[in-house]
Amino acid sequence: MNVTVIGAGYVGLVTATVLAKIGHQVICLDKDEGKIEMLQAGKVPIFEPDLEILVEQGLAVGTLRFTNVSKEAFAQPEIILLAVGTPENADGSANLSAIFGACQEIADGISNRIIVGVKSTVPVGTNDKIAAFFKMEKALVEVVSNPEFLSQGTAVHDTLQAKRIVIGTESEYAISRMMELYAPLGQPMITMKRRSAEMVKYASNDFLALKISFINDIANLCECVEADIDEVVAGMKYDERIGKQFLAPGIGYGGSCFPKDTKALHWLAEESGYTLRTIQAAIQVNEKQKFKLIQAARKDVPQFSGKKIAVLGVAFKPGTDDLREAPAIPNIQYLLDVGAEVHVFDPVATANVRRFFGDTIRCGEDIASCLAGAEACFIFTEWPEIRGMDLRLFELMRERNVYDGRNCFDLADVEKADMNYYSIGRRKLQRSRVR
Ligand SMILES: NC(=O)c1ccc[n+]([C@@H]2O[C@H](COP(=O)([O-])OP(=O)(O)OC[C@H]3O[C@@H](n4cnc5c(N)ncnc54)[C@H](O)[C@@H]3O)[C@@H](O)[C@H]2O)c1
Repeated sequence: MNVTVIGAGYVGLVTATVLAKIGHQVICLDKDEGKIEMLQAGKVPIFEPDLEILVEQGLAVGTLRFTNVSKEAFAQPEIILLAVGTPENADGSANLSAIFGACQEIADGISNRIIVGVKSTVPVGTNDKIAAFFKMEKALVEVVSNPEFLSQGTAVHDTLQAKRIVIGTESEYAISRMMELYAPLGQPMITMKRRSAEMVKYASNDFLALKISFINDIANLCECVEADIDEVVAGMKYDERIGKQFLAPGIGYGGSCFPKDTKALHWLAEESGYTLRTIQAAIQVNEKQKFKLIQAARKDVPQFSGKKIAVLGVAFKPGTDDLREAPAIPNIQYLLDVGAEVHVFDPVATANVRRFFGDTIRCGEDIASCLAGAEACFIFTEWPEIRGMDLRLFELMRERNVYDGRNCFDLADVEKADMNYYSIGRRKLQRSRVR
């Protein structure tokens, strides 16, 4: 099929590339010229495992093209997939300006009957508004809610092995075309009303966010009552009703989805006259959780001003260079505000960190140089390089104060390494100082 994907971000680029791999003729449109130039040259502007090789293959066989020229993108599509951003507004609602901007371009650019599948996460009722917009513009468009469930860091795998493909429309014609599009993936497809499909996306993301905030809440309580969250989770996850995933305690969720999707659903509920108390609680727990490490560190380090502080991991999770809503960001900002000299190590997000903080921080090439002479170390991302590091590297620090927001190490190993160590929901370890 001829497919146009609008938006070459994490969702659009991966979707376009995978659809090209399974045999469709795909053109991906983005208004960011720099991004398109890179992609046309076979370079991927984001860090996403396995993506670059698939882009190269798609370009080489000619099933995948990139453009920033609308006319080219709208020449002959049968299906257009919309994957533009829907960031949050100041009040927590979803900002739909990119969605309706792209819809205007579609209405102006197409001449034949097409299907528009909306992959962007949009509040319930938005697809109906999009359909009304096309009707007003007299564009022959059938709108399908087709939410995306990939996770950054495993996006290619998640798309190729999708657990489910949700097709939200009551049009038999649109259902059959969307099924034709995704059939080569051989994954389960579920059809439903547009509004239900929109809600599946929010309910799924918000459930996961709720699970994270729940386990963080329990971890915090463990600290108060001398229980150990690792042992608690080990005992919980045997229960299949609870499940094994998303039970890792830490300094909270971040990224481009959970923070904004929890706030958008909460906002939507309020607008509809309903208070979504569970999601409200998840948001509140997460906001407080982000500053747990700094709170703990303030008890040990009398002042940060003029001190070298090491930060290991900045990306909102391992496997991505994305810093959007990463818990590390407000923490680094706090450290800078109080006059600390911040040294950062992140295996893939360094370029984005530099772009974000400019020359106010220093980025090291390795963990050792980041730690050398530091007064305290904060761990915000559980990269394998950090989880697997030799704990003797902490001996390079001026003071061995380590605040681990992702529980990267075994307490028994940390005890042998002899340092002040705070992690989430576990016993705080004090350095013996006996040398
Ligand atoms: N990132 C994820 O893990 C993820 C997962 C599932 C769903 N989603 C949802 O998918 C949507 C996209 O997310 P993302 O992370 O890929 O966003 P992104 O910010 O990485 O990418 C969006 C892209 O759209 C482009 N764009 C905006 N308006 C355009 C227009 N009119 N024409 C052409 N290009 C345009 C931007 O230049 C940008 O490159 C969001 O609604 C998000 O909530 C994201």
